[in-house]
Amino acid sequence: MIEQISARQDEALQAIGNAGDATALEGLRVQWLGRKSPLTQILRGIGELPPEQRGPMGQAANLAKAAIEAALEARTVAVSSARYSQLADTEWIDVTAPGQKPAEGHLHPITTIQYEIEDLFRGMGFSIWRGPQVEDEFHNFTALNIPADHPARDMHDTFWLKDGNLLRTHTSAVQIRAMERLTPPFRGIAPGRVFRHEATDASHENTFYQVEGLMVDRHISVADLIGVMKQLLSGIFKRDVTVRLRPGFFPFVEPGFELDIRCLICGGEGCSVCKQVGWVELLPCGLVHPNVLRLGGIDPDEWQGFAFGLGFDRLVMMRYGIHDIRYFQAGDLRFLEQF
Ligand code: DAH
Repeated sequence: MIEQISARQDEALQAIGNAGDATALEGLRVQWLGRKSPLTQILRGIGELPPEQRGPMGQAANLAKAAIEAALEARTVAVSSARYSQLADTEWIDVTAPGQKPAEGHLHPITTIQYEIEDLFRGMGFSIWRGPQVEDEFHNFTALNIPADHPARDMHDTFWLKDGNLLRTHTSAVQIRAMERLTPPFRGIAPGRVFRHEATDASHENTFYQVEGLMVDRHISVADLIGVMKQLLSGIFKRDVTVRLRPGFFPFVEPGFELDIRCLICGGEGCSVCKQVGWVELLPCGLVHPNVLRLGGIDPDEWQGFAFGLGFDRLVMMRYGIHDIRYFQAGDLRFLEQF
């Protein structure tokens, strides 16, 4: 019996010595030490042997078991270190090779300018307001002093919705929401997307971006408006900008203006950008009409305000020399990747 055990042990040790990988070793462990292995069977049967044989047999079987366990362990270490030393030859990587740059997204140029303008206004104590893109007639028109039969409604080709609401045609609608919600004095801007039912061409889109500004306080005058506009424009263009106001009509301001800047390309001499006039029309603005203050719940005898509306698309086009507004919404990566 004892010779049989040592023969089995030799057989096992030889097989373990030949095993080439971890899977083979695991198979041998089951075969030689598992529940059905010869050694386990022998140990199990010991109780049935005559008493004087039990001690030596048990000892021999346990020694064989320990020898097999030790051999398995040693072989496992050997096999895995062989694998690691091979790795350097078979699976090497060149850590000095230049990396592959993952494709990174970035902000749309309109969003970039929006954030810049938000920062400039925050610096002047303005809040940032958001309003709904689906508006009602009251906030988009009526409360801005544009009653139903007013010809100014024709200036805005409106996308009407079946339920009587509309896609806001300008961010001026957010002025009214601010007045309804806040008690003066207050100042804020409302940047966002606006919509017009327009035939599109290089300078017209059905979806574009504006920022509306509104400041309400006591004794607001055109001088306050000019001061804030100059601060804004020198922030955007990174230099001092000369402005002039021309009369302009918008039902929600009185007086209303078109604000021009002295052409930044030719300095006022006249060039193709300013069409030889030396000035570029930049934004409409004015002092808030008393009717608008009243409809927004503010007493015009006590409070005044100025408002302006600035289009982002034109600004970005001027900044980068883009000559077709339709690129902004086209989702063409060849265009967007340039910013
Ligand atoms: N909401 C006007 C538009 O989109 C722009 C505008 C004009 C806004 C005069 C103003 C303003 O605040 O005072 O056509």
